[in-house]
Amino acid sequence: MTKRKTLTTTSGSPYTTNETSRTAGARGPVMLEDHQLIEKLAHQNRERIPERVVHAKGWGLQGTFTVTKDISQYTCAKLFSEVGKETEVLSRWSTVAGESGAADAERDVRGFSLKFYTEDGNWDMVGNNTPIFFIRDGYKFPDFIRTQKRHPKTNLRSPEAMFDFWSAQPESVHQVTILMSDRGIPRSPAHMNGYGSHTFSMWNDKGERHWVKFHFRTHQGHETLSDAKAAEIIGHTRESYQEELWHMIEDGNHPKWTLFIQVMTEEQALETEFNPFDLTKVWPHDDFPLIEVGELEMHTFPENYFQLVENAAYSPNNVVPGIGFSPDKMLQARLFAYADAHRYRLGTHYEALPANAPKNSEVRHYHKDGAMRFFTNDFGNPNAYYEPNQYDGPVADESAEEPPLRIDPEAVVGRFKQEESDVDYVQPRKLYAEVLDDAERDRLHKNMAGGMAPVSEDVKERWLAVLKKVHPDYEAGVRRALETGNHGEPSLPVTDDTPVEAAE
Ligand code: NDP
Ligand code: HEM
Repeated sequence: MTKRKTLTTTSGSPYTTNETSRTAGARGPVMLEDHQLIEKLAHQNRERIPERVVHAKGWGLQGTFTVTKDISQYTCAKLFSEVGKETEVLSRWSTVAGESGAADAERDVRGFSLKFYTEDGNWDMVGNNTPIFFIRDGYKFPDFIRTQKRHPKTNLRSPEAMFDFWSAQPESVHQVTILMSDRGIPRSPAHMNGYGSHTFSMWNDKGERHWVKFHFRTHQGHETLSDAKAAEIIGHTRESYQEELWHMIEDGNHPKWTLFIQVMTEEQALETEFNPFDLTKVWPHDDFPLIEVGELEMHTFPENYFQLVENAAYSPNNVVPGIGFSPDKMLQARLFAYADAHRYRLGTHYEALPANAPKNSEVRHYHKDGAMRFFTNDFGNPNAYYEPNQYDGPVADESAEEPPLRIDPEAVVGRFKQEESDVDYVQPRKLYAEVLDDAERDRLHKNMAGGMAPVSEDVKERWLAVLKKVHPDYEAGVRRALETGNHGEPSLPVTDDTPVEAAE
């Protein structure tokens, strides 16, 4: 039998025991000099870091992305440079509203985050399992999230707040329809699509820009859970997703997705009936067909969940040359929010943690010092710690700059309200009337009614009026389910939800 290695303190000196405190006599008291004890207790006190303010419950795998089709006419991003090229990927899927201990099988949107460790740095695709979102301006995001989290007095989730907010933001009906459809509770992350959701840009080596949408389509098929099935699963286990992913990887049954892009020229973007940078809208497939790009295969269970999944810092501003942003107002707000959240949640040098450090490109920057600065910026000469310098420190590469973006010369700075119009109802109408079949519509009516059941009459009527603008049958179906009570249990995780009376 090989000799087991010696246990040490964090400073590397051997432990003599890992069982007993150092005491004055067998009955104590404990000596303050017992550094081992103090270290052990102090470390336990620091085992938790703040959970993500949203998307706190998550599941992650490691895998590989392989290019299957040439898209170099759209992008010079090196990860797409040739068919067969492989790039390492770290995924994290999540629910949005629940805390880090929430049950996996809850009705909610799912996050779909991918970190591609490319040779030009990390590209993060921080999307959802829905191609759109509830709101179109980041200014409303904190309000929206507040309605998804707990009421300050009852400390319960509040459908009253959710439907109160949604009915005053009718552009949300597209996303709420998807949330209440069958796809509102995927069986597992393997059984759902992922979408970049926002419009992004790509540019090629000629400096031509195209607008793009990213779609990751599941190979496992869409499998979803009814509210009743989800309740049954949660009764047995809160960790159904983690368990399913674990077994899939253990059995060699690796989940896969095909990446497609939709492409729009800058000229086309001026002509669409809807704003192509509005996150509450999809680009119809007939007008902007899906173009295959490659295959994503997730094949490895991370060795340490905390190190790779909890410490993962995904951010839409992690882009690489050849991929860029768009004017989407939500995306622009996100470009601030994520790195700020990471500095708070993980610390100043979060990018140097193993989950986030580029694996296939070198990091060279002039940021200096700060908490947990455990790495050096040694560019070969200790004098090269500012820029410009005479010591051969790293310099910028102008060729990585994206092409200039032409802005409407008539544009003025202001706060622009987008008035509600039928444009907001066209796409949910198509989803409701043309994509869903009769049985799916029936389940949508019941799921929606279940979610609304605890809500006050006033808010119910406001939301039913929004549904009527989508399609009269939609409103009628949900109203019928509400009136007959034929809708099963409320599908959102709540209990009593009477609005709390204000104090005198
Ligand atoms: P298509 O008929 O070409 O596409 C319909 C899309 O709807 C397919 O991507 C399908 O996904 C998806 N879908 C089916 N059931 C649901 C559901 N319950 N929740 C969410 N998506 C679902 O039509 P259009 O491109 O013109 O889009 C029509 C409507 O479909 C849109 O207004 C939007 O609501 C929805 N949709 C559109 C997408 C797009 O990018 N164009 C993407 C996703 C939804 P799959 O093929 O994987 O089964
Ligand atoms: C996580 C902010 C919209 C997808 C987060 C986090 C913040 C945040 C602060 C926590 C980050 C962390 O601690 O690591 C915002 C803001 C938004 C917005 C301000 C709007 C202005 C969106 C949209 C999507 C999205 C539209 C999807 C299309 C995600 C995902 C995560 C996340 C997937 C989890 C990332 C992970 O797995 O670590 N968001 N978000 N968010 N957000 Fe957003």
